[in-house]
Amino acid sequence: MPSERRLFIKRALYSILGVLGLGFLIPAIRILAPPPRRERALVFFPLISEDNLPRSGVRKAELSYTVSGREIRRRVFVVVSHSGLYVLSAVCSHLGCLVNYRREKKEFVCPCHGGRYDISGRNIAGPPPAPLTMFPSKLEAGILYVGVRV
Ligand code: FES
Repeated sequence: MPSERRLFIKRALYSILGVLGLGFLIPAIRILAPPPRRERALVFFPLISEDNLPRSGVRKAELSYTVSGREIRRRVFVVVSHSGLYVLSAVCSHLGCLVNYRREKKEFVCPCHGGRYDISGRNIAGPPPAPLTMFPSKLEAGILYVGVRV
């Protein structure tokens, strides 16, 4: 009889520990595991009219749009070159300063640490580890639209 009681107590104790363990383990896994990555929608916003595109070269522009009631502004460069028409972000890939365009050298130059990019946005000198971001873009009904993931 005492051994049956001991066995019962032992099983009850293990059950309680098991439930408590799961109670801590499941929230711990939720905290430690990365949240599922939500695929953000690509939305196109108007940037400038076709009439304001540079014939050849670079034009600075500001993309502004609203997401969830919050207004967002991004400096971009519209480039028309032998490779076509494209839109580059002005945000340096090093630490996020805004780059400027140097027409005489046909380069984008970062004022913070001297990073340089060629006209296609490729990083060519200094600390930037990656090219400037190229936004998806399209011309529609005389307007240049820029795609942003929101
Ligand atoms: Fe542009 Fe460092 S932030 S080079």
